[in-house]
Amino acid sequence: MSRIEEVQNAALQTIAKAKDLAELQAARVQYLGKKGSIQALMAEMRNLPKEEKPAFGQMVNACKQAVSEAIESRQAELQKEALEKGMESEKIDITLPGTQTTLGTTHPLLMIQQELEDLFLGMGYKVAEGPEVEQDYYNFELANIPKDHPARDMQDTFYIDPNTLLRTHTTAMQMRELEKAHGELPIKLICPGKVYRRDDDDATHSHQFMQCEGLVVGEHVTLADLKGTLEFMANRMFGEGRKIRFRPSYFPFTEPSVEVDVSCPFCDGKGCSVCKGSGWIEILGAGMVHPHVLEMNGFDPEKCSGFAFGVGLERVAMLKYGIDDIRNFYTNDQRFLKNFDRFD
Ligand code: PHE
Repeated sequence: MSRIEEVQNAALQTIAKAKDLAELQAARVQYLGKKGSIQALMAEMRNLPKEEKPAFGQMVNACKQAVSEAIESRQAELQKEALEKGMESEKIDITLPGTQTTLGTTHPLLMIQQELEDLFLGMGYKVAEGPEVEQDYYNFELANIPKDHPARDMQDTFYIDPNTLLRTHTTAMQMRELEKAHGELPIKLICPGKVYRRDDDDATHSHQFMQCEGLVVGEHVTLADLKGTLEFMANRMFGEGRKIRFRPSYFPFTEPSVEVDVSCPFCDGKGCSVCKGSGWIEILGAGMVHPHVLEMNGFDPEKCSGFAFGVGLERVAMLKYGIDDIRNFYTNDQRFLKNFDRFD
């Protein structure tokens, strides 16, 4: 009977010391299992005289009962502990400040590009694309600027090899589109994109900037069509009431060529610091597609004519939003960029 007590005490101690459910399960096997200590005590009953058996049996049963109950209650305790620990480690402090995710805004140059695309798509133009790494052939040759032509000096070029360069103007895309049309009329498209020139960067120059080319070729397309189109564009981009002025100019791929001024949107043409008192601001170059360019691209200049223009997107954005340094567009300064969220 003292053995029973010993086993019971040992069992209760082991159970009390069990640190987790695994240890408790080991104790259960050790004492209550088929090969456990309490079962072994039961087996000993066989060796006892008959009259001692009932009392012994009762004691073993009481021992078994006590151990079972101890295991049950320790198990409840351990389960509660585990739950509490889990809740503690998974606790979320809803009073802590969250991580802020800031939303970007459309870049001002992309805004201008999208505005131009909307405007010209609305007039039935298509939007064309072309490569930034371009062949000399499309950038110069097809644009009526052969190798020894002095006009090549007008556009300081980044050459990759003698026949490959970073396009210096979107006119390269114009040439690709003319060639692709195989003489079929009409052509009505714009091609916006990045262009590159070996300029020293300062407040008004950048070695990389954006242009948007416009091209229309058909029967009886005239300089008046060009003027009307540009006037419409100026009114949409800079507000109603803008006027357009042509000044003679020179581009090898257009004849005649013009420099285009828009009446100053800041002083309505009266003269201010932005237009330097003249009332006019130069915004783009344009002209009638040179007959030789039409011919080289498989069009008959006797049967069709066309106009083209190339506008600098930085210039438009600077005028429209009052930006005085072109470098602002490329330095990704949030203090600059976030000003444009209100136009988004
Ligand atoms: N390609 C000219 C430039 O970059 C602009 C232009 C385009 C002029 C189309 C006339 C016609 O300066």
